[in-house]
Amino acid sequence: MAAGAVVGAWMLVLSLGGTVTGDQNITARIGKPLVLNCKGAPKKPPQQLEWKLNTGRTEAWKVLSPQGDPWDSVARVLPNGSLLLPAVGIQDEGTFRCRATSRSGKETKSNYRVRVYQIPGKPEIVDPASELMAGVPNKVGTCVSEGGYPAGTLNWLLDGKTLIPDGKGVSVKEETKRHPKTGLFTLHSELMVTPARGGALHPTFSCSFTPGLPRRRALHTAPIQLRVWSEHRDAVPLKEVQLVVEPEGGAVAPGGTVTLTCETPAQPPPQIHWIKDGRPLPLPPGPMLLLPEVGPEDQGTYSCVATHPSHGPQESRAVSVSIIETGEEGTTAGSVEGPGLETLALTLGILGGLGTVALLIGVIVWHRRRQRKGQERKVPENQEEEEEERAELNQPEEPEAAESSTGGP
Ligand SMILES: *[C@@H]1O[C@H](CO)[C@@H](O)[C@H](O)[C@H]1NC(C)=O
Ligand SMILES: *[C@@H]1O[C@H](CO)[C@@H](O)[C@H](O)[C@H]1NC(C)=O
Repeated sequence: MAAGAVVGAWMLVLSLGGTVTGDQNITARIGKPLVLNCKGAPKKPPQQLEWKLNTGRTEAWKVLSPQGDPWDSVARVLPNGSLLLPAVGIQDEGTFRCRATSRSGKETKSNYRVRVYQIPGKPEIVDPASELMAGVPNKVGTCVSEGGYPAGTLNWLLDGKTLIPDGKGVSVKEETKRHPKTGLFTLHSELMVTPARGGALHPTFSCSFTPGLPRRRALHTAPIQLRVWSEHRDAVPLKEVQLVVEPEGGAVAPGGTVTLTCETPAQPPPQIHWIKDGRPLPLPPGPMLLLPEVGPEDQGTYSCVATHPSHGPQESRAVSVSIIETGEEGTTAGSVEGPGLETLALTLGILGGLGTVALLIGVIVWHRRRQRKGQERKVPENQEEEEEERAELNQPEEPEAAESSTGGP
């Protein structure tokens, strides 16, 4: 009577809890053995017990008992009453029940909900971009996870924070494929982003796989770091080597300064050489060529050649540098240094603001005619002149600072 009451109470708990607490959730790795214990069963035969399975392999319930034959290589009852599945497959997902009666006649039920999983390979980012253009949608890469079960999900991270697709600045195209034989999943997630203008210059992207079952560890790709480029001044992304001449048109008064800047989108910055009238100039490589105090011998056509280890050499269009005859050489000669440096400062300001060019590598000055002057400058008594020149270079900032400090009452 007392035993009956205990069983009755147990049944009540089961029916109250329903499937929520009644079933014990089991996860089993595909290909590995799984043992399910039949609670309350005698440890050795003879036993009074029965296993019932409802899985992907069964039609309705399949019954297995210690006396019966094993079910092919799928499952069999062990001498201690437990059920062994030697190698779990996707089709073994389902419900497993055992009903056992102890020697004293007490009945116990075991209920299992079996789910299987497979850990996919480490996710990878294939076809990663190497650089992004601000203000337009760019493909960052495709994250791929292969051989997982259940499907799970892929998430992208930007600088360690999960990226939420919003269909605008961040969008993701996903594809889930299932292997026809193994039933394992391959996930693809292609990320498109539109970097904000003036945003981070070196964002880091990574991707993580979140398993479809709880309490399983996420897997992460190696991060990729990209370079964000600002748009070119006319909003056309740089695809080719561009030669920008300052002043525009390349015409200056005698003694003026011409700045040639070679712009290239390639990363790492390629080596840039200069060509005048079809012949290479004997200068060290650099992205900017400065022609100070332009004279007749500086006239001609100039182009730059960017040599990138992976792309090979690329030549820009040619631009011509010419002198405008003013007939007032006396006055222009007097103010040579000033306008020239201002032009340089202006050019640097514009290019620096756009941030499109790897300018900081250096400026080459084509000073064929200035060698004699350069030597003069090494003489100590001319140091003052050099100081003056430096001060002039700083000019664009100084008047601004002065204005703001006198802006008060
Ligand atoms: C077993 O999993 C189901 C969902 O599949 C859940 O509702 C239930 O709470 C889980 N049971 C236990 C005991 O964790
Ligand atoms: C029954 O035997 C199997 C295999 O030897 C073992 O893994 C399992 O834990 C045993 N079950 C019980 C209830 O002792």
